[in-house]
Amino acid sequence: MADTKVYRASTTAPVNIAVVKYWGKRDAKLNLPTNSSLSVTLSQSDLRTLTTASCSSTYTSDDSLLLNGEPSDVSGARTQACFRELRARRAALEAANAALPKLSTFPLKIVSENNFPTAAGLASSAAGFAALVQAIANLYELPDSPSELSLIARQGSGSACRSLFGGYVAWRMGEKEDGSDSKADLVAPASHWPSMRALILVVSASKKGVSSTSGMQQTVATSGLFQQRISTIVPANMALMEDAIKNRNFPQFAEVTMRDSNSFHATCADTYPPIFYMNDVSKAAIRAVEAINAQAGKTVAAYTFDAGPNCVVYYQEEDAATVLGAFAPLLATAEGWKDGSVVNASVKLDEGIAGTIKEGVSRVIMTGVGEGPLKTDEFLVAEDGTPV
Ligand code: DP6
Repeated sequence: MADTKVYRASTTAPVNIAVVKYWGKRDAKLNLPTNSSLSVTLSQSDLRTLTTASCSSTYTSDDSLLLNGEPSDVSGARTQACFRELRARRAALEAANAALPKLSTFPLKIVSENNFPTAAGLASSAAGFAALVQAIANLYELPDSPSELSLIARQGSGSACRSLFGGYVAWRMGEKEDGSDSKADLVAPASHWPSMRALILVVSASKKGVSSTSGMQQTVATSGLFQQRISTIVPANMALMEDAIKNRNFPQFAEVTMRDSNSFHATCADTYPPIFYMNDVSKAAIRAVEAINAQAGKTVAAYTFDAGPNCVVYYQEEDAATVLGAFAPLLATAEGWKDGSVVNASVKLDEGIAGTIKEGVSRVIMTGVGEGPLKTDEFLVAEDGTPV
């Protein structure tokens, strides 16, 4: 009898924010980086992608993806690479066991939703590709480890490979030409250093900036400073960062985080023509973090910026009163501010800095370190194959 069943599997996957940045490709087709990188996975209570992968012999259209309610193109090389690799792994299982249903031959229908607004301007490709790969791996019942799956997610978007794990995650650049050693591994689980918090200051950009994919290509091609970053700065930062995480040494974690963000943005400024991701609000956030650390008399907060103006401030729960206390007068009315904790108003920000932040930040996300992808019984595709 023909197999007309609709097969389904769901997962959630987290966002990650790098503290040693990935910037530069040595192979654009395989998405291989010029340097290793390291990130903190953020809690899925605040930021996550939920994805259901389904397949059936009864599906009449080709592979499809519905993203936040809108049909999304799957014909791009990156998505195709993920589909191809996952299907090949499933086909190998089917070849070894004739009793398995031939899922690798069925069209895929994938439905995906973020729990955070696109307007937040947060790079969602990391959580998106991690969820896509993990959901299909669940559907195909692949035995692959998160590290092995990270090899596939990397081909969707580089930073996505780090979202296959929770906690503190390294993407080892690898050396092989075929990319088989360019994958993510766990530096430490979230439980090793659970007090890590992240305050994301969402800074609205007036126009869309240069995408990370194209920005990093321009930097590799034109920046002299970039060569020093990949040969000297990043290897040193990776070692210092792993050591800081192992020892839960926040001042060291913070200094490397800030220096590495500065180094990455310096290579952007050294790109010809230059690329600027940070704006005046971003720069005010840097000054605010410096003032908090100076007035606290120790390093309690660290800033970092990706390919956009949003500021992520890392701090430890034990310093929440000091760090949040400095921002509370400016941001307590911003969307997303979670009230409740006792705030200490001892840190005073310069009026100009405070005004710029108050005016330029209308939304915040208050979150912390979190877990990796989680299998769930929440489905975005019904048993009959229709999206819900
Ligand atoms: C600045 O992973 O978005 O956020 O591999 O081209 O998809 P592609 O790039 P992407 O780049 C992220 C760059 C970054 C730093 C980081 O996350 O490490």
